Amino acid sequence: MKRKAARPSRAGLPAARIAELREQLLAHDYRYHVLDDPSISDSEYDGLMQQLKQLEAQHPQLITPDSPTQRVGAAPAAAFAEVLHAVPMLSLDNAFSEQDVRDFDRRVHERLKRSEPISYSAEPKLDGLAVSLIYRDGALQRAATRGDGVHGEDVTANVRTIRGVPLVLRGSPPALIEVRGEIFMPLAGFAQMNEQAQQRGEKVFVNPRNAAAGSLRQLDPRITASRPLDIFLYAVGLIEGGAAPEHHTQLLQAFRDWGLKTCPEARAVLGIEGCLAYYRDIGARRDSLPYQIDGVVYKVDSRADQERLGFVSRAPRWALAHKFPAEEASTVLTAIEFQVGRTGALTPVARLQPVFVGGVTVSNATLHNMDEVARKDVRAGDTVVIRRAGDVIPEVVRVVIDAEHAVRAPIRLPDRCPICGSPVEKAEGEAIARCSGGFTCRAQRQEGIRHFASRRAMDIEGLGEKLIEQLVENDLVKSPADIFTLTAAQLAGLERMGEKSAANLHAAIAKSRDTTLPRFLFALGIRDVGEATALALAQHFLTLKALAAATPEQIEQVPDVGPVVAAHVAVFFASKAHAAVIARLRDLGVKWPPLQRRVTAGAKLAGQTWVVTGTLAAMSREQATAALVELGAKVAGSVSKKTAGVVVGADAGSKLKKAQEFAIPVLDEAGFLELLKTP
Ligand code: IVH
Repeated sequence: MKRKAARPSRAGLPAARIAELREQLLAHDYRYHVLDDPSISDSEYDGLMQQLKQLEAQHPQLITPDSPTQRVGAAPAAAFAEVLHAVPMLSLDNAFSEQDVRDFDRRVHERLKRSEPISYSAEPKLDGLAVSLIYRDGALQRAATRGDGVHGEDVTANVRTIRGVPLVLRGSPPALIEVRGEIFMPLAGFAQMNEQAQQRGEKVFVNPRNAAAGSLRQLDPRITASRPLDIFLYAVGLIEGGAAPEHHTQLLQAFRDWGLKTCPEARAVLGIEGCLAYYRDIGARRDSLPYQIDGVVYKVDSRADQERLGFVSRAPRWALAHKFPAEEASTVLTAIEFQVGRTGALTPVARLQPVFVGGVTVSNATLHNMDEVARKDVRAGDTVVIRRAGDVIPEVVRVVIDAEHAVRAPIRLPDRCPICGSPVEKAEGEAIARCSGGFTCRAQRQEGIRHFASRRAMDIEGLGEKLIEQLVENDLVKSPADIFTLTAAQLAGLERMGEKSAANLHAAIAKSRDTTLPRFLFALGIRDVGEATALALAQHFLTLKALAAATPEQIEQVPDVGPVVAAHVAVFFASKAHAAVIARLRDLGVKWPPLQRRVTAGAKLAGQTWVVTGTLAAMSREQATAALVELGAKVAGSVSKKTAGVVVGADAGSKLKKAQEFAIPVLDEAGFLELLKTP
């Protein structure tokens, strides 16, 4: 290529030319992504980008992080950092029928004491992943996943690579604005990506949503950059140094003015009839939209009214997701097999002739339990209707009765476990049948170990299902304790394991030895002891020894623990086999230090009494109480002059009034989260 003689004015002022190119690229991005009206061809755009890249290469001191050339900036990360959402990211209540929507609209009228039709914003419910983007002084500062609504993951490096996400905003947005929306993979990009993956003999993604999630959760941003992701923004979180418009529909317009993409199908509609007409219209056009949606969302348009309506538990009262009906398809059920879970529960699973439903090919469906099998009268060879909604496990809805149905053999519960041959037991009045083999059953061992190693339990990174299967199959691991005897050489000998990953896994196992009492308790896999119960037990008994020695009556003293759970806990610790495994774990260096007595002098809220009232969006009241106790506070049920502070959620009543009377400090949810965050 011939090199053009550089014009003197520009050659002398590379900074000015760089600024000019960036501005042009930004304007073209805006036309392309927001207005959907590009004024230059892709190759002309690439030409401008090329020029900018060259100039920046010659003048690296002029590269800024918000330059359009710097989308893939960061090197691969070891893990995603956790972020705390200053304003919790809520979810939506679902409606499945017209009546549900009418009830919603009626409640809005009642609460607002309004008789005229309500103005709503109606939008598709995008089937992707919710994200939060923070722009400070117009520059993208942080992008995070929704996570559990309070804690998300910092995915800034990855989100920067998405072309539809502006690195800098146009116009004059507030000094700090958090915008929220959905990252998704358009259908065309998804199809193309899967086709290429198939040609290369790589794994294909089941649906666009999973593909988007998998692409966003890559530790190497270059991989994310290669995936056809897109974004639509539809909400605000934190705002400082400026205000958002009064109506949601205006907010969406403001987003577009700032260069943020919004869904082109979003519209202002009037009243319930407007909502339902919109639902029918989008429903009819659903299959011709270039992205996947699973319903529509209605939002009260006035933001002042939104504020008035507030939220209950984790969903706003001013918005509703009206879901499309779950997709159904019929196919032939070839057999029913029984899967054995961690607690020995036998789950009947229908093996099916593969059928495409709800965006994926389904070849198995759950039948939950034997009562369900009997109720639906499912038999091998029957034609059945399968339903799949969202990410839910596909299920068998009903049998299409034909002439042969009656002569097919009814399904019987096996007398013996299909895995280990131990007798199967079904307690009177219980729907679930269980293998009585306990840890002698390979399936129970395998599932128990999988649970033990899982992220919320011992968090052994890299010890996934396939590896556990091999470890159990080869008898390298018979109990959770055996995990800690594995050598790097043994791990390297497993299928699909290199030296490097074996060394990494060995290190991850070593690292997991330092755990906490609540995690360890959860990891043990005691029946009905989930994370919350494990935490409550740990906080009450403080040591494993104290818990193991407790009677069922003593265990029942723990908040939210009833007689059934207490019995399961007591039975678990009464077992000699369990005691032996725990002793071995300790001998092998696993540590679950006792929790501290809570009211230690050093704790931030030591000696104080707090009250929690109203509904918090991000956590249950029990969780808020546990968090306060953790900080050394006592938590009382009523406000008195001695109360040090009151945490106030939505719809707080008399306790808030009383706190105001006594001039006791009041923290709203954001303030409370801040308190928990600061050391
Ligand atoms: S608004 C408080 N608008 O649905 C309102 N959400 O079920 C919060 N979603 O986590 C969300 N399309 O991931 C809103 N147009 C839309 C949406 C939408 C999809 C997702 C979002 C949210 C989930 C809640």
